[in-house]
Amino acid sequence: MQSKHAILDALEKMRGEFLEQVKKITEELAFEHQAGKLEELRIEFLGKKGKLTQILKGLASVSPQDRAEIGKVSNQLKVEFSNALEQAKSKMKEKYYASLHDAEWIDMSIPPAAELHQHFGGSVHPISLTQKKLENIFTSMGFSILDGPQVETDYYNFGALNFTDDHPAREMQDTFYTEQGHLLRTHTSAVQVRGMKKLKPPMRMIVPGRVFRYEEVDASHEHTFYQMEGMILEKEVSVSHLLYLMQTLLKEIFESEVEVRLRPGYFPFVEPGFELDMRCLLCKGEGCSVCKKTGWVEVLPCGLVHPEVIKSGGLNPDEWQGAAFGLGLNRLVMMEHNIEDIRLFMGAHVPFLSQFKEILN
Ligand code: DAH
Repeated sequence: MQSKHAILDALEKMRGEFLEQVKKITEELAFEHQAGKLEELRIEFLGKKGKLTQILKGLASVSPQDRAEIGKVSNQLKVEFSNALEQAKSKMKEKYYASLHDAEWIDMSIPPAAELHQHFGGSVHPISLTQKKLENIFTSMGFSILDGPQVETDYYNFGALNFTDDHPAREMQDTFYTEQGHLLRTHTSAVQVRGMKKLKPPMRMIVPGRVFRYEEVDASHEHTFYQMEGMILEKEVSVSHLLYLMQTLLKEIFESEVEVRLRPGYFPFVEPGFELDMRCLLCKGEGCSVCKKTGWVEVLPCGLVHPEVIKSGGLNPDEWQGAAFGLGLNRLVMMEHNIEDIRLFMGAHVPFLSQFKEILN
């Protein structure tokens, strides 16, 4: 049997203990450890199996009036404890912001000591390395580099590119939609029409960037990956122009003569459309796991720009012709470095990333 007084005393004792602990945590502990400790304390005192619950077990043996009184006291305690925790948290935030302010005085431009850099220095992501290399090749051929939004409208990603509303090709690209009715761009082709409006022909542009698909992730599929779109608009453009451009491009990337072949491919925004394959560089065409034993690797879908797309860009298709291609950067980098798992690119896996020590220029 416990008396009302024994329970009230226990509650009062617990109150003192709790407030003292909060004070200790906020005053003595480094702020980055405080949040965790405060939460531990809350659980220790107010959690399901916490001290308060233990003390209140004694309620079973007191009279109903006493029970009501103790209930009131314990409710007040809960409010007091929550307030104390809130106050401690806002003090913690203040300390955190003050420390950020202090950190601003670190001079970020001072290079690290050589030996530190060797062990801990960053490296450039392999996709960025190849992207930069390609940007250099294209700008030397007179291309502009464009960017576009990653959260896109249905119009630029699909409609303007000759995907009608019920076009089955929309299903070729599984799409993430936002609640507001926008989407995450599924390809850098979404920037074609934006680019045409901005640059005016004759023009050459590339659009490197991140794209997204609602994919089940495995060694060869990612929901987030990189492409580089290319587009030229001139008075006259033919398939042989396109082929020459693609061949030059691959030769520059792989620093060797690359054999290519064209197959028909369907994309609503080009006519004719192609899949361009290159001889597998890993097995020299003999057949390996990268080329799935065929000796050829699909690297570059491309084609001549569809007249409807030229119209979407506000131009007259009788006056202007175009060629376009969509380079899959991940695939290219995998070929270049013999990487077998696409997940490594987004995996923030330091041993993988730190292999790429090349310097960007
Ligand atoms: N946007 C297409 C995709 O991601 C790739 C593509 C195909 C781009 C043909 C092009 C093209 O510019 O002409 O699947």
